[in-house]
Amino acid sequence: MKQAVDFLKDRLNTPPAVGVVLGSGLGAFANHVENPVVFPYEKIPGWPQSTAVGHAGKLVCGALASTPLIVMSGRAHLYEGHSIDKAVFGVRVMGKLGVKAIVFTNAAGGINLSYGQGSLVLISDHLNLQGTSPLIGPNDDSLGPRFPDMSDAYDAEFRVKAKETARSLGFELPEGVYAGLLGPSYETPAEIRFLRVIGADLVGMSTVPEVIAARHMGIRCLAISCVTNMAAGILPQKINHEEVLETGARVRDRLLALLHALVPRLGA
Ligand code: HPA
Repeated sequence: MKQAVDFLKDRLNTPPAVGVVLGSGLGAFANHVENPVVFPYEKIPGWPQSTAVGHAGKLVCGALASTPLIVMSGRAHLYEGHSIDKAVFGVRVMGKLGVKAIVFTNAAGGINLSYGQGSLVLISDHLNLQGTSPLIGPNDDSLGPRFPDMSDAYDAEFRVKAKETARSLGFELPEGVYAGLLGPSYETPAEIRFLRVIGADLVGMSTVPEVIAARHMGIRCLAISCVTNMAAGILPQKINHEEVLETGARVRDRLLALLHALVPRLGA
């Protein structure tokens, strides 16, 4: 990790204040970064390569309304076979570069029936059902404490700002609990019924390890899910990755507008 941090420090004039992690089909935000310096993941020492379709695999550093930021376009998922250390590598590097706030985006299945396909939902809390944690093993005290608190994992003040920003753009941002599963198969209808009973509104295959690693380092987190499909068994139709990407593309402009207006408000 130190190699990657030093590599980027040597090449960046301004330390980033805010990080953004873009999920499946949501990579277009990276094109909006001002004065971008682009690092394809394969050029950064130790950086995991992303193999998921719809993930570009590059780090874009620059600014948005004079807030220095760093954008991960493409992330490493556990289902790709990456170790959990690799899945949170980018978050830890961002933290070591001085990032104090990270906005995560992801594609998710909607469990809460009040959501529709294409809804944007603010994550209020999560259920870690991936059976692992990035904090397993000896604690690295340079990152954070052994037993970090997770009661305010999704920053309350950031959520208020996100809702205000969405409203100013003419839409509401509902909140929901995100269940993080390993994937890569979509869930069974029985699993979705189980997830509803235990309090999940959304289901996806990312974000949870990253938020745990970020909170370990004291980084404030905001996460926005794009409901690309209703979860298994809710509608009488199958789920496919193309549909997930298509919905992501359809909602892209709304999410871009939201990030554009919101990210500079998280930098102070
Ligand atoms: N389940 C899990 N992950 C997902 C889904 C889903 O239905 N849609 C997009 N990511």
